[in-house]
Amino acid sequence: MAEEKKLFKVTIDNITVEVEQGTTILQAARMIGGDVAPPAMCYYTSLKGSGGKCRTCLVEVAAGSTADPRPMPKLVASCRTSVMDGMVVKNITSEKVIDARNGVVEFLLINHPLDCPICDQAGECHLQDLSYEHGKEGTRYEFPRRTFEKHSLGPYIQLHMTRCILCYRCVFVADQLTEKREHGVLDRGDHAQIATYIEKALDNDFIGNVIDVCPVGALTDRTFRFKNRVWFLKPMDAHRECSKCCGKVTLWNRGDEVYRVTARKDQWGEVKEWICNECRFDKKHTNDWVIEGPTRVNRHSVISQGHYVGAVKPKETLQEVMGGRNPRLLMDIHSVSQVNKPEVKLSELPGPATGTVFKEKTDDKKALSDKVDQATK
Ligand code: SF4
Ligand code: FES
Repeated sequence: MAEEKKLFKVTIDNITVEVEQGTTILQAARMIGGDVAPPAMCYYTSLKGSGGKCRTCLVEVAAGSTADPRPMPKLVASCRTSVMDGMVVKNITSEKVIDARNGVVEFLLINHPLDCPICDQAGECHLQDLSYEHGKEGTRYEFPRRTFEKHSLGPYIQLHMTRCILCYRCVFVADQLTEKREHGVLDRGDHAQIATYIEKALDNDFIGNVIDVCPVGALTDRTFRFKNRVWFLKPMDAHRECSKCCGKVTLWNRGDEVYRVTARKDQWGEVKEWICNECRFDKKHTNDWVIEGPTRVNRHSVISQGHYVGAVKPKETLQEVMGGRNPRLLMDIHSVSQVNKPEVKLSELPGPATGTVFKEKTDDKKALSDKVDQATK
């Protein structure tokens, strides 16, 4: 007969759960769920050795165990501390924890540029979420932020070192998923940075997963950069037969255009199954995929804004809205704004969508307006 596993009782924010021996406080808190689960910027369940770097998951241990109920003298990193039987933990019910977390966020933001309006991670950035909950309006830091020499990682991945919080997740991905790790943390202390010795080196199969695990916008998808904002896209679950990976992905569509492909994530923002570079970067057409249906997005996420799952679809044409009548005057937003020409397929541009993409069309328009000027003189 199989030996019964001993369960430990742990109480977190006044809620008691029973967990197996060896479970960390963070994992136990995630079993309870909701706000009881501390934020985690460096821990990643499927990456061995992750955790213990960012200190966002600090909690207070008010009683160590039934055998020794003394409190722990300092706040502990919940991702690296195992539960004991009878342990009592405080997360959001502890003022000390909230105060410490505010401090940690302030430190994380010391060198982080506040470039969310142009950052591709905006809308799905864990540091952005954390700053909303724990950040301050201003900074007390008086020194210039760190800057770095630009470093090319190759055709797929863009590095913005100034945004990096040195969580090491991308290093573990390269170590544990790819055949050869080509990048790492070079130098130490204030000089520590993610870099490679060999330029343009990151093209191993499965290396694209570093984009999904990066909690901030330090590593982004070069095939998607500056093409769209995530909250304008519709995530769809899709799959394909793939000889290298599970082939189960999330497509980020606008209409029929596939703007980017990512791995599917769970409620904690962690990848459920890793995907290969071919699925991520080379399969950007809907007919490459079998679409399963809309991805379930947390309703609090900005990505769920404007999506109508189960609701009545809004009317599409003006005639429908106006009870069958046609409008008297119609302005074509594309000819007025000079951008977002419907004939320009943003998802198919090889690089970022910049003003020059539309320049040709703009020149056409200028020639046309010159002609009109001459004719009316
Ligand atoms: S680049 Fe991203 S994943 Fe890598 S260490 Fe920096 S923050 Fe972490
Ligand atoms: S998640 Fe625990 S220290 Fe980073």
